[in-house]
Amino acid sequence: MGLVTVNDRTLLQAGAMLREGKLVAFPTETVYGLGADATNGQAVARIFEAKGRPQFNPLIVHVPDVKAAEEIVEMDDHAWAVASTFWPGPLTMILPRRTDCPVSELCSAGLPTLAVRVPAHKMAQALLKEAGVPVAAPSANASGTISPTTPAHVAGSLGDKVDMILAAGPCSVGLESTVLDLSGEEPVVLRPGAITAEEISEVLGRPVAYDFGDHDKPKSPGQLLRHYAPSAPLRMNAVDLAPDEALLAFGSVKFMGVKGGGAAKDLPDHAIRNLSEEGDLNEAAANLFRMLRELDVPENRKIAVMNIPDSGLGIAINDRLRRAVAGSQEKES
Ligand code: TXA
Ligand code: MG
Repeated sequence: MGLVTVNDRTLLQAGAMLREGKLVAFPTETVYGLGADATNGQAVARIFEAKGRPQFNPLIVHVPDVKAAEEIVEMDDHAWAVASTFWPGPLTMILPRRTDCPVSELCSAGLPTLAVRVPAHKMAQALLKEAGVPVAAPSANASGTISPTTPAHVAGSLGDKVDMILAAGPCSVGLESTVLDLSGEEPVVLRPGAITAEEISEVLGRPVAYDFGDHDKPKSPGQLLRHYAPSAPLRMNAVDLAPDEALLAFGSVKFMGVKGGGAAKDLPDHAIRNLSEEGDLNEAAANLFRMLRELDVPENRKIAVMNIPDSGLGIAINDRLRRAVAGSQEKES
């Protein structure tokens, strides 16, 4: 379908496409976003595939208003104060996920937090209302290229990897949103943007620090490494299992045996998950963080992961697994 101008008809189509799990690029006042239904793990996985991101960075989830934000994250008084001053607008807040949060864990990249934003752009507002689901959207460009501020940039960077591009002229801000982390002890700006730390600190009545780290990478990779790591030690490329190991499978487990007798397929429910029985990397990406969490229970001393092909989304899956291995070794030592 490609590039279409925004009007009542195309907005209706775009909303339906999002609900069907398709990718829709859309304008916001900051930059164009590459949107997918945030509650649909496979649709979210497709975002990483389209951008060619070799890593699962957490994504911003877009909602039409504070009420919708409140359904997915825990909003305390600080979050409310910031939201009522700056939303809708070019500001993203990192907040704890609600326990009943319907957003795919792939959006959080395994973190207990979620980035949420209410964009001000009229067309973004209209699309979010039409879609009726929270919309995960990174900037609509291929990984490693600059963020797009015109529909032509999006088309040039992503082309036919996106199902629809809603075109509405250049973005007025032209710079990605300010990312404010309110999930820790102190409020911290992780990415600078049109709304400054000084403005936020006036609203909160306390100092707000900047902590940029690596642009486009979440704060303090060391800290994240631990977040991503299950507490059970993890091993990759397993071809058989030790008796105390749980299995994170990929594809057929027919020939997987447990040392000392038994077959992997007969493991108790807490000890086996299959990322994708069909060997589909998109499905595997969508299941990764949830299944790691489900296997990381006290009954399982260790987790063995079957080989996952190192191509397409497999590159990002293996990157995450290697970090989990490193994280669990760090914990052991
Ligand atoms: O202006 C924008 O923010 C655009 C439009 C489309 O909304 N979106 C955007 O998304 O720039 P993206 O994915 O390119 O950047 C998201 C930033 C990244 O730096 C990411 O690490 C950070 O937000 N982020 C997302 N979730 C996070 C989390 N749970 N904890 C820490 N950082 C997070
Ligand atoms: Mg970006």
